[in-house]
Amino acid sequence: MSDGGFPGFTMGGSTAPDMPPLGKPPAPPHAKAGDDHPVSDPIPLTTRPDPLAGPVIGPTGRPMPFIPEPGPVSERGGARVISMCNQKGGVGKTTTTINLGAALAEYGRKVLLVDFDPQGSLSVGLGLNPHEIDLTIYNLLMERDVTIDDVIVPSGVLGMDLLPSNIDLAAAEVQLVHEVAREQTLQRVLAPALERYDVILIDCQPSLGLLTVNALTASDGVLVPLECEYFALRGVALLKTTIDKVRERLNPKLEIDGVLGTMFDGRTLHSREVMDRLVQAWGDKVFHTVIRRTVKFSDSTVAGEPITTYASTSGGAESYRQLAREVLERCGE
Ligand SMILES: Nc1ncnc2c1ncn2[C@@H]1O[C@H](COP(=O)(O)OP(=O)(O)OP(=O)(O)O)[C@@H](O)[C@H]1O
Ligand SMILES: [Mg+2]
Repeated sequence: MSDGGFPGFTMGGSTAPDMPPLGKPPAPPHAKAGDDHPVSDPIPLTTRPDPLAGPVIGPTGRPMPFIPEPGPVSERGGARVISMCNQKGGVGKTTTTINLGAALAEYGRKVLLVDFDPQGSLSVGLGLNPHEIDLTIYNLLMERDVTIDDVIVPSGVLGMDLLPSNIDLAAAEVQLVHEVAREQTLQRVLAPALERYDVILIDCQPSLGLLTVNALTASDGVLVPLECEYFALRGVALLKTTIDKVRERLNPKLEIDGVLGTMFDGRTLHSREVMDRLVQAWGDKVFHTVIRRTVKFSDSTVAGEPITTYASTSGGAESYRQLAREVLERCGE
């Protein structure tokens, strides 16, 4: 490792040896929802609760509300921009961006996903090879003659597009420091897309550096995925302080759209205790939907597609549809 970087990556982007691709896992047989894991079944929000049976208590320990299927979009455009943000790594930001985006697209929303992480996981998770991407969000940020249309690519999911990224973006973090209005750069380049999409989801990197501050400055809302695990609760105060600072200094409209418990395992007392703590700390900001731990997410990443198409009837796919309904209801979209 001559450049001191991580194996598999060099700053130039193209000379690193690629990891041999994993074989695409066979599509699972289309069986009933939740067949992958007995605790994966989301509690269906669309089933109107039976008043005689009393309230159904959801996985967050609160009564599950009734959220109807969203209607068609009344007016195109005026996109709501939502950042998936948590400086802790591996909590489900990218998985949530892909699958929430795909579920929103299923509900007829026009969705743009923004890969704002130099790891490029969102782009890879949608089947792109990071070394073969010609123009990325880096070019859009740093080169004045590159337009958003030059960089947007279809995601493979109907109604959902992607602004891809790769390791080049790591350089932007350094170069942007010298720019005028450096925190507003992403907001400026995304402006032309606002009228063409209903929802724009930004997948942040696991840090609270300048790229993440750019994402928060460009956003209307933040969605915080949190792994249902004790260490996940540490660092949340710092994230909240960062969001508050961006709201005060750069973006007064910024709201916390919700906190999403991920990798939940309802069979363990630990997951349930963490969930209780989340609800104590964040109250109604915690989504009623939780995402269960299931290996189907890793499988669908290898397949390069969202779980909503890879394992369309699985509990994981249904959970993200449920989350999409909650997001649309909360944000009034
Ligand atoms: N609900 C889940 N159950 C099981 N595995 C999951 C779940 N959600 C995500 N994963 C897996 O956990 C790993 C990390 O997820 P993901 O990449 O979405 O996290 P991230 O927050 O974006 O990570 P990073 O901070 O590195 O960007 C991936 O391998 C993903 O497939
Ligand atoms: Mg990620």
